[in-house]
Amino acid sequence: MAMTTCNSLFAIRLYRAVNSYRYLSQIYDQWEKLMGASFSMLIFPKLQQVLERTHRPIQKMVDLACGTGTMAIAMAKMGVEVIGIDLSEGMLEKARAKAKKAGLSIPFFCQDMRSFSLTEKVDLITSFYDSLNHLLTPEDLQQAFDAVARNLNPGGLFIFDVNNKNCFEKLWQGTSVFHHEEFTLILENTFDEKSLRAQSLSTIFRRKDKGPLFEKAIELCEERYYPDEVIYNGLNVAGFNVLEKEDFNPFWEIISIGPVKEFWVCEKQR
Ligand SMILES: C[S@@+](CC[C@H](N)C(=O)[O-])C[C@H]1O[C@@H](n2cnc3c(N)ncnc32)[C@H](O)[C@@H]1O
Repeated sequence: MAMTTCNSLFAIRLYRAVNSYRYLSQIYDQWEKLMGASFSMLIFPKLQQVLERTHRPIQKMVDLACGTGTMAIAMAKMGVEVIGIDLSEGMLEKARAKAKKAGLSIPFFCQDMRSFSLTEKVDLITSFYDSLNHLLTPEDLQQAFDAVARNLNPGGLFIFDVNNKNCFEKLWQGTSVFHHEEFTLILENTFDEKSLRAQSLSTIFRRKDKGPLFEKAIELCEERYYPDEVIYNGLNVAGFNVLEKEDFNPFWEIISIGPVKEFWVCEKQR
């Protein structure tokens, strides 16, 4: 009897598609806040500095794998015409709602970063928070670089971050638990040195209708580490010059394990 009562507290949903963000999208912004700030806001000053340094007038841009739209909204507030692209309808739904609330008209499209196409080329394409690591083979990564090149004006900028090896070795190992009044998120991470693949199994208990019951969902996120030479080579094949590449740690206030990210600034050859 006790068992039945206990089980009835949970509706368990197993979502098998990898990297769908179907359930994570529902808690993504609150989860980021639990870690201090959204990644977009941590990286926004860095992006502004690069744009000032490189003296590029940016009229139109794409935030690729835009997630819940935080960066797209911040750039739109700066007067840039922004398009958001992501493969997860859940993330895009959140992005559209946030832009509407902010009184901004930002088109958000559901497209794959390996094959996206725009009606007009843009001056800048960004892709942040290890979105490119979600591509699981060097061929997929190359397709994404080629698609970015096809949609950029000559001389246009491609700015992105990826996780470095230190990140996968130190942060993608073990379990972390995040508590919020609306949910508990358990992340079980593993990194395989041989295949360079990493998995993050999320178990989410999300409060139903602000009541005492919770829904349980399980979702898998997979990433791959790409050594510098693979990235340099892929960018070169797609027709980019690398202007800057820097290892950094945006989370240094909470995690002091050295650089965990690579920040790449590239220019499409003219
Ligand atoms: C860690 S989130 C980062 C989201 C956002 N850039 C940010 O900074 O919060 C990774 C995003 O990549 C998206 N994504 C993964 N694979 C994709 C693909 N093939 N094409 C487009 N988006 C993809 C996911 O849906 C998710 O929104």
